Order: sequence, then structure tokens, then C-alpha cells
Amino acid sequence: MYSHCTNMAAALRSVAFRRLGEQLLKTSNCGRIRVNHQLRWQSSAFPATQAKESEPRIQPHKSRKPKTGILMLNMGGPETLDDVHGFLLRLFLDKDLMTLPAQSKLAPFIAKRRTPKIQEQYSKIGGGSPIKKWTATQGEGMVKLLDELSPTTAPHKYYIGFRYVNPLTEDAIEEMEEDGIERAIAFTQYPQYSCSTTGSSLNAIYRYYSKKGEKPKMKWSIIDRWPTHPLLIQCFADHIQKELLMFPAEKRGDVVILFSAHSLPMSVVNRGDPYPQEVGATVQRVMEKLGNSNPYRLVWQSKVGPMAWLGPQTDETIKGLCERGKKNILLVPIAFTSDHIETLYELDIEYAQVLAHECGVENIRRAESLNGNPLFSKALADLVNSHIKSNQVCSKQLTLRCPLCVNPVCGEAKSFFSSQEL
Ligand code: FES
Repeated sequence: MYSHCTNMAAALRSVAFRRLGEQLLKTSNCGRIRVNHQLRWQSSAFPATQAKESEPRIQPHKSRKPKTGILMLNMGGPETLDDVHGFLLRLFLDKDLMTLPAQSKLAPFIAKRRTPKIQEQYSKIGGGSPIKKWTATQGEGMVKLLDELSPTTAPHKYYIGFRYVNPLTEDAIEEMEEDGIERAIAFTQYPQYSCSTTGSSLNAIYRYYSKKGEKPKMKWSIIDRWPTHPLLIQCFADHIQKELLMFPAEKRGDVVILFSAHSLPMSVVNRGDPYPQEVGATVQRVMEKLGNSNPYRLVWQSKVGPMAWLGPQTDETIKGLCERGKKNILLVPIAFTSDHIETLYELDIEYAQVLAHECGVENIRRAESLNGNPLFSKALADLVNSHIKSNQVCSKQLTLRCPLCVNPVCGEAKSFFSSQEL
């Protein structure tokens, strides 16, 4: 979801503008465009068609006025094919995610051109992203537990704040203010922090109040990262163990576990983004929990274009392992907690189906995303409960800007949050 196109400032008119757009379409990865294969593989445990198996559940009406609001932050995903264009447009317009020359003009151009290809990908995973459904399921489980764990801050209500698709973060904040929430907790649903993901959502909250020229009526605090929370680690380990059992017994010990996370351009990594280190910390804890039962690697997916990205890439790793005789592979999405296009399409179809077939893989499977696992809702509730008890506005890590950050909004947002009083 990250693109860096920094040397294109001159291309704004007629043919030059069109050529620039074409180039960006080839080189950025926001909605990937290179595959159009027929479905030939499907995980028995996680068929792509499950993406739309049921409608998102509606949060039950609470008769008592909610006291504590938990804003679940994520980028979101288009729920229907008609939502794809709006999603891409907001994504390309997000200056915290990427900087483009003449972004207000170029973003609509790229979004329009890319929409049909991305719609095609979503049509292959059931017609839309399941992320809202899963976030609602997780949120419901979380607040139910929280009302028991923390009666003094009850009733708790969850709100979904997506960055690029409804329900948008700004609308969720408005709803929270209207509900008369006293304590607002911005809870990132990315376990590992990146300025491109959680940072962008936090900047959006800051911008909301800044544009209004008003101070929040609610007291804000933030859960900005949780890469090694024990129950998160337990969930990942459980899902891996369950999937390892699906391999033939004689192969099980040789299965290579590939933890796959969304990659970042090296330009983002090199400005000091904490994401690679935090993803590594999650992987380390999960493997410790598993007693280091199998060989493993942390690999990175979704790179597109000629610029340098964090590697090794997941697809190249699968190919390389096969060439070296390692033909039993378990893919583990480690940086998202719910299914999304990078699991249902990229891992399940492009890699586990098409690429694996081409490489001659013997067995390849994908560990289930945390989705509706009740233990995961328990992890979320525990994170919020501990956060409330800590009486801290945010982690110490959040107060530090990337050493080479050039985005002034990052500094303003950090000041905004760290000046909140609980
Ligand atoms: S890019 Fe990391 S703090 Fe601004």
C-alpha cells in the first residue's frame, strides 16, 4: 500500500501527465495489477469465497449511554466492487502514506485507471473485503468482555475508523462526540507500528480537530502498538500449530514457516520507521512459543515497481526454497489480524495456487487469519483494560518522530496527543 514516486514534479500537462500516470500505474503497488489467473488452488480451511459468508453484525443498541469509546483504526477495504474507486482515491490522496507530485490532480487519475483491475481482484475473493465484518465481530467480543473487566469505565462502545472507506475515521469521531463519550481510546488494529499505517490514522484524528478549530470534548489516549502481547502471540501460535497438523506427518518437521508481512519501500525504512523491528519482535515471540519447532523466515510481500523495498519478497522466497528442495511451506500473515486482499488474493491465489504450482511445491498452506477467534477478542479487551489501568496517554515510543521524518504533521499530531490530560 505504499508508493514512492518522488522525481516526477514536472509532469502535469497533457501527454506528459498521461505518461506519468501510466508509469505510476506500473510502479506503485496500491492495488496490484499483474495477475489474471484462474483459480486452481484453494485452501480447504480458508476458501476465498468465505470472504462474504455473512453480513457484518450490527453492534447491539445499549440502553445506557456509553462512557468509554474505543475507536478501532485500520485502513479498511472496499466492501463492494462499487467501493473500490473511492477506496483507491482516498488512498492515493493520503500524503501521510505517499507523496506524489500534484497529488490532488494525479490521485484521481491513477485511481480511475486502476479501478477495473482491482475490482477484478476483489471479485475473485467474493466481491469485497471482509475487514468490516471481522472488525465488528472483534469489537463486539471486546466490549462485552470490557464491561466485565472494567465496570468503572463501562459501558464501552466500539467504533470503526477506517482510513480509506466507510466507516471513515472522521465520521466515527463525530459519532463519538455526539454520543457524549467521556474517554476516547484510539486503538490501532495494526499490532506493529508504521508511520504509513497507524501514523496516518493518528494524523487523521489530529487533522479532524485541527480543521474544526475545536478542542476535543472527550479525553483521548492511544494504544499505538502491541507487537508482543501474550494473547496475540498465543493466537498466532495456535493457528500455526493447527495448520501444521494438516501437513503429512512425515513432512511436518521439515515445513518451512514463512511469516509474511506487507513490505515497505526502503525510503520509508531508512527514515527510521519502527515497523520492520516490531514485526521481527512478533515473529521471535511466536517462534519461542512454538518451541522453535520448525525452520522459519520473515519475508515481505506486495512489492511492485523498480524501487528498492524491504525483502526478501515472499514470492521470490517460495521460488528460492523450491529450487533448494524445500517444498513444504506454511505461509503466516503476521502483520494484519483480519483477512484482506493480501491474504485472500495474493497469498492464497497468486502464491499458494499459481506460483506454487509453477515451482513444483509439494504442500503449501496458509495459517488462518485471527478473524473471529474468541481468544483474539480477549486479547483486544486485555489490551484496552491494561491501557485504561496504566493511565498513560500513549507509549513512549510514539513521542519520538522518525529521525529523518520530513512530514510536519507527524510532529503536530504527536504534540496533540501527548498534551491530552486523563
Ligand atoms: S514519518 Fe515517522 S514520524 Fe513522520
